[in-house]
Amino acid sequence: MHEKLIQFLKQAQGYLSGEEISGLFHLSRSAIWKSMQDLRELGYDIVAVPHLGYRLLSVPDKLFPWEIQFKLGTKSLGKQIIYKELVSSTMDEAFQLGLQGAPDGSVVCAESQSHGRGRHGRQWISPKHKGITMSVILRLPLPPSEAAQLTLLAAVAVAEAVHAVSGLTAQIKWPNDILLNHGKVAGILTELNAEMDQVKFVVIGIGINVNTLKNQLPQLATSLKQETGKNFSRVVVMQEILRSLERWYEVFKKRGFAPVLSQWKQHSTILGQRILFTEAKGTLEGYAFDLDQDGGLLIRTDSGEIVKKMSGDVAILSRKEA
Ligand code: BTN
Repeated sequence: MHEKLIQFLKQAQGYLSGEEISGLFHLSRSAIWKSMQDLRELGYDIVAVPHLGYRLLSVPDKLFPWEIQFKLGTKSLGKQIIYKELVSSTMDEAFQLGLQGAPDGSVVCAESQSHGRGRHGRQWISPKHKGITMSVILRLPLPPSEAAQLTLLAAVAVAEAVHAVSGLTAQIKWPNDILLNHGKVAGILTELNAEMDQVKFVVIGIGINVNTLKNQLPQLATSLKQETGKNFSRVVVMQEILRSLERWYEVFKKRGFAPVLSQWKQHSTILGQRILFTEAKGTLEGYAFDLDQDGGLLIRTDSGEIVKKMSGDVAILSRKEA
């Protein structure tokens, strides 16, 4: 009901009379009035003028599914969106939905997370109503060893979405930190449910700092607002992420990982740089030489040896500007 009413109000030129609305929705005038009240409570600014009717003045910047889905234009991503004000982590919600059989492209998004998590057990902090915290369920036949490729795919998709909404050129730090002017604007976390030889579903978690203020950001992080001085509609940003993710997902399913990898390299901030690589078993210094065809990072050490890493953290030691 909400979504239909909102769509109707959005498409109206001017005022809509209570009579018109009640005719269309087969509801009494008082039921319409009550629905308008409900929408106001959700943050919609709706004026009611006697003899003229209702008019929508503004929509709240909330990640309501019907707002995200309005003119979204995707085939599967975002067809089902679960929206929560507060969750522990959208990863857990999405994982549970995945276990219950949620279809490919289902999305969980939340206004805030009490236990948002990042890679390697780190925290992901995103103040309420400032950023986007979402997890997408993808179902595709894939060996578990290739699931990491979807992380790189998501990084490309987010980098392109950032560019589409802000005009800024985002860079990617292996494997999936999205940077603007060397500050982290978004992070991606991939978790999977798999059998020995086949993935059942993958959950791709995306956190992006949108309107987050400097004093709300962790060190070394940035936001779209911080970089541009402007506020962004989080709905528009999330829609763009879903569209871009679906585009790259389609490319991956039809043409494999190679086109994703080539695009990832275009956005790379580390290739050719001297880096410090850190993993649980220690650190390694060298040059980020290339990405292997499966997305693994190839590091040339000082002894000239090429070492391949599939997971870990990278810090740039000395920056060679392009
Ligand atoms: C990282 O950079 O280490 C990855 C950060 C991923 C954060 C997102 S926010 C939505 C989803 N829910 C979580 O708890 N984490 C991911």
